[in-house]
Amino acid sequence: MIKKPFHYGGTVDNQHFCNRASEIKELTTDIDTGLNLLLYAPRRFGKTSLVLHTLKQTEYQYIFLDFMSIVDEHEFINEYFNAISKSLNTTADKVVEFFKKILKIKPNISVDFDISGTPSFKLNFLQKENSVVLKEVLELPYLYAKYHNKKIVVVFDEFQEVVNLGIEDKLRAVLQHHKDMVSYIFLGSKKSIMTNLFFDRSKPFYKSVKHIPIDKIEAHHWQKYIKDGFEKNGKKIDSEQIEMILEVSKGFPYYTQQIASEIFNITEKEVESDLVEKAIDSMLEKEEDLFLNEWNHLSQHQKKALKFLIHFGGENIYQKEKMTEYNFTSSSLKKAVEGLVAKDVIDTKKSSFYLQDPLFELFLSRM
Ligand SMILES: Nc1ncnc2c1ncn2[C@@H]1O[C@H](COP(=O)(O)OP(=O)(O)OP(=O)(O)O)[C@@H](O)[C@H]1O
Ligand SMILES: [Mg+2]
Repeated sequence: MIKKPFHYGGTVDNQHFCNRASEIKELTTDIDTGLNLLLYAPRRFGKTSLVLHTLKQTEYQYIFLDFMSIVDEHEFINEYFNAISKSLNTTADKVVEFFKKILKIKPNISVDFDISGTPSFKLNFLQKENSVVLKEVLELPYLYAKYHNKKIVVVFDEFQEVVNLGIEDKLRAVLQHHKDMVSYIFLGSKKSIMTNLFFDRSKPFYKSVKHIPIDKIEAHHWQKYIKDGFEKNGKKIDSEQIEMILEVSKGFPYYTQQIASEIFNITEKEVESDLVEKAIDSMLEKEEDLFLNEWNHLSQHQKKALKFLIHFGGENIYQKEKMTEYNFTSSSLKKAVEGLVAKDVIDTKKSSFYLQDPLFELFLSRM
């Protein structure tokens, strides 16, 4: 019996992981081929879960680094060094010994242990040595793979943050020589920055990766996942009710899990019809601060353009009558829409615009 069949927040795996079979297959094949990969999707869309879930099913050793909290080059070096050391699955002594053997610099490595005995590794060096040490640390995965004659994978999560560190050129210069031995997977939640980094001719990472699109999880997979989650715990939900959940979440993984979880928690045996609506209300309440904050960071024109998009939908937005109703000229609407795309609030598909976050959309439509 799974006591908590639904889970939201943080990565998911095993019984909490729903489908994504085609992405897993594509990722696995591409890693086998030795490609470098790019995946981007909005926050809480399931990027990290997908990649970690896939890697756990392969035999590759992998290094995982999240750029989100890293503030400068010095910290990057240490965090990356620590991530590499931890992924080696061996004792702290052996890790240090190995690095002393393969690093050209004479490293001063210190190891700390937390209460559970898990080591964390630190390279001690001066700020002025950054450049040399950075290069050496970037080479480590490759040297390690070559030494063991075994391909490895490096995952750089929230990679858009790299632009705040200003080390793109240095990274690219080293990583491009690692082909065949190291596959790099770049994950990001800011499409505007990620596409700029990888698809702009003038940028160092231009054409260095294969892009794998991640879509929402399809309704029929959610139907089975949610139904099973209830049934395995002696509760019942019918498919129309699941459809109601999906109508709001639009298959967005985090929200689908969150609504399902809310409903599960307040259901005794069978889901009653008004519970779905109740769960959605309670969720909107919980997210209110976050959404208001997002709203307050928009310009007046951008706010108006969002209301416009919610009112008319995202197709043929430049029709005269529509613009007149909202007092937009085509150039003021264009500017507002471009601003919203740059802020990753909306996105475009086949010349139609849509809000990236379905709950934010619902929140605004009820405002
Ligand atoms: N394959 C999946 N099946 C079911 N739920 C999923 C799946 N992938 C993600 N989720 C849901 O989405 C949530 C966020 O997943 P994850 O942290 O992997 O997303 P992310 O895109 O990496 O988010 P962030 O940008 O915040 O790091 C999970 O806690 C879970 O509720
Ligand atoms: Mg993530």
